[in-house]
Amino acid sequence: MRVLVVGSGGREHAIVRKLKENKTIDHIICAPGNGGIAADAECVDIKATDVEAMTDYAVSNDIDFVVVTPDDPLALGMVDAIEAKGIPCFGPRKNAAVIEASKVFSKNLMKKYGIPTAGYEVFDDAEKALAYVLEQNRWPAVIKADGLALGKGVLIAQNEEEAREAVKELMIDQSFGEAGNRVVVEEFMTGPEVSVLAFTDGKVIRPMISSMDHKRANDNDEGLNTGGMGTIAPSPFYTPEIAETCMREIFLPTVAAMNAEGRTFQGCLYFGLMLTPNGPRVVEYNCRFGDPETQVVLPLLKSDLFTIMQACHDGTLEDLDIEWSDQACACVIEASGGYPQKYGRGYEIFGLDENGQCEGVTVYHAGTRRGNGMYLTNGGRVLGITAVGRNLSEALDKAYEGVNRIGFKDMHYRTDIGGKLRDL
Ligand SMILES: Nc1ncnc2c1ncn2[C@@H]1O[C@H](COP(=O)(O)OP(=O)(O)O)[C@@H](O)[C@H]1O
Ligand SMILES: [Mg+2]
Repeated sequence: MRVLVVGSGGREHAIVRKLKENKTIDHIICAPGNGGIAADAECVDIKATDVEAMTDYAVSNDIDFVVVTPDDPLALGMVDAIEAKGIPCFGPRKNAAVIEASKVFSKNLMKKYGIPTAGYEVFDDAEKALAYVLEQNRWPAVIKADGLALGKGVLIAQNEEEAREAVKELMIDQSFGEAGNRVVVEEFMTGPEVSVLAFTDGKVIRPMISSMDHKRANDNDEGLNTGGMGTIAPSPFYTPEIAETCMREIFLPTVAAMNAEGRTFQGCLYFGLMLTPNGPRVVEYNCRFGDPETQVVLPLLKSDLFTIMQACHDGTLEDLDIEWSDQACACVIEASGGYPQKYGRGYEIFGLDENGQCEGVTVYHAGTRRGNGMYLTNGGRVLGITAVGRNLSEALDKAYEGVNRIGFKDMHYRTDIGGKLRDL
């Protein structure tokens, strides 16, 4: 088997490494990949969003199966295009990827099918949106761009001035382009956030181990929002009882709702949940594996990932037993100083062996490249230093021990990943 993985981040590296365990795969290609992925797969320089070039590549290189991971190619219909050529894919079609690509769609879906989420209104007019926020006069107010906005389209306004600024940024200045043509104004919820990724073939749904991201750049959840500075799995907040409630009230109803809409979802469906005092609520859906959640979830998967992915495509997930480790996993992101704003590139990374790894931890490469026989920084999030342990505390200790040995100029990382959860 020849398998093509689309994408270039730490998440894709984790997927590639897991796929390597399958003995029927003899060649893995990653497009475009990165410096560290190149030690595990053949990297081909095709942009993840170039649907036409990716499809042509898959066809002319005898690819047997394609894993489309990032949100934008899924929203652009890459799965539809490649499957039209007779090559099976893991990932939702365009009409199902809309569950992430449009927050208006997903909120309306949840309302129509009674799936618990924050109350909301939709606006396509800036004045009306602001008038509604002011009339509600409930703070903080949550204002969300409808479309994909690189994780920056959600603004939480503490007062009138910030609300004016938020509506202006999204709808008038159009900082995220057309993504801000419509906004969702949402009720503010409180409680711990948990991510649950789930495999689904459109018939059955198999949740993975729960996880928890740390979005803010600095310790104590201060600083700007980022793509994610570290993750732990499982989340100690996600009890078996809550998991059962989520299955009944959220996971199964979502699969059924998408089917009822003629938008059967196959692939990885990501539930961003908030465990509010009134029970679990959906914050958002993603139509794909999360980054860096994947980096802590897949190391705990005992079953074969490729077999599961094939079953999601074939509609045979019901026949599979999926086994998980009862250990814990932690991932600490090493980022470039200045991220998520301006940062330098091209710094030498020390502490890595020839394969971009380091004993005692698993190093998932996000923004790296090879140059002069070295690994060099090449992005905001550079590496995800990951370790499995008997419990969360042990996993975190091992991961941070790796962080101490691997680094580069101007490196920035959070020292408190999983900190508050260690003793829960
Ligand atoms: N209704 C809400 N109440 C409280 N916090 C929210 C709400 N909606 C979003 N958030 C916060 O904003 C973050 C980003 O929102 P989300 O809907 O996940 O958008 P995206 O990931 O596309 O930026 C969430 O992880 C959560 O911390
Ligand atoms: Mg989110």
